[in-house]
Amino acid sequence: MLDPAANPYAPGAGVRPPLLAGRDRELAELDRLIKRARLGYADRPRLAVGVRGVGKTVLLLAARDRAQRGGAIGVHAQARREGGFLRALLRDLELELRRVRGARGQVQRALGVVASVAVTVGGVKVSATPRSGVGDSGDLAVDLLELFRAVAQVAVANQQPFVLTADELQELPDAEMSALLVALQRSSGEGLPLVAVAAGLPGVHAQAASVESFAERMFVVWQLGPLDDRAARRAVVEPAHDAGGVEWEPAAVRRVLDASAGYPFYLQHFAAAAWDAAVDTPIREHDVRVGVERGERELADSLVSARLERLSERERRYVRALADLGPGEQPSGAVARALGVDTSQVGSARQRLISAGILYSPAYGRVAFTLPMFDRYVREFLDAI
Ligand SMILES: Nc1ncnc2c1ncn2[C@@H]1O[C@H](COP(=O)(O)OP(=O)(O)OP(=O)(O)O)[C@@H](O)[C@H]1O
Ligand SMILES: [Mg+2]
Repeated sequence: MLDPAANPYAPGAGVRPPLLAGRDRELAELDRLIKRARLGYADRPRLAVGVRGVGKTVLLLAARDRAQRGGAIGVHAQARREGGFLRALLRDLELELRRVRGARGQVQRALGVVASVAVTVGGVKVSATPRSGVGDSGDLAVDLLELFRAVAQVAVANQQPFVLTADELQELPDAEMSALLVALQRSSGEGLPLVAVAAGLPGVHAQAASVESFAERMFVVWQLGPLDDRAARRAVVEPAHDAGGVEWEPAAVRRVLDASAGYPFYLQHFAAAAWDAAVDTPIREHDVRVGVERGERELADSLVSARLERLSERERRYVRALADLGPGEQPSGAVARALGVDTSQVGSARQRLISAGILYSPAYGRVAFTLPMFDRYVREFLDAI
């Protein structure tokens, strides 16, 4: 047996992979942005867009890691439907500011502004005295901008970049979305050296633009897709090699690439399962077959049951009908037909499934699951119960 404790792969959500493959262009751009920020230059915010499991969160984490290695002020928050994004941001900012060495005056001032904004946002304790007249207008966008300005002053004084990452942007309630967009837009307008990187599901760009129309033009969008063959191969082969010289037979790698269609989430999952099934190096095609079969059973249970649990009967029927139509995007009309009703009669179920992050609409009148290959797991899971 290969030692399961030495399994180098990182299946899961938001878990840093042993090798971040195929994102060289984005990483190079990040390095350039961070360098520019250090020199005091502003740039446009980035928006990483892609389906579930494509690697948005780990790209944000990489941005953060790179920034912190270079001594930046790095803050991260994940948007949630029930709110709390700004609270998380303020908490992280306070921690980061307290770690800053140098520029004492600016740091104290920025902490005061964090405390002021915390009063407006509510529900978060900051151990600093609110600074009156700054960040306390009660208008979230204005207060956030003042906060960004105060932090940017610390960053400039210390020649430290200020890096802000925001995940699951599609979950952000409209009021917070609007405040964030306005504050980011104005800070790049003012030339604040802030590196902002957000991530969200397909459709998030249009959603942001429907809240603030300028959002259509403010972001540089990174469309993240499945890894190409070369990158996917590296993601599978190199971590094993580095973890004590374990090699892969070419046919075994091919099987992992085919089973995952290059999607990072599945690559990690199947490579990890093949490692666990393998007896010795090299990992063989047979190990992958066993591993993928086991991996798929696990996925059908964990992915589908978690997502279907909270759905109503109507929504569940919609999911099943879409899954039965096969992989990829489908016309919403075909789903309705399969259910024997008019498109308008399933509109609300479809909308709720989009809000729940299970579906997205890649184009007018079309729907798809946000997780690639989810259709297969739905069929397997529902057939098994
Ligand atoms: N470039 C990559 N190379 C290798 N593995 C990757 C890469 N990107 C992501 N992964 C792996 O894929 C999995 C999913 O990554 P991540 O959680 O970042 O996806 P996501 O796009 O944020 O998904 P979600 O929309 O569900 O939040 C993780 O196991 C991660 O380690
Ligand atoms: Mg994510």
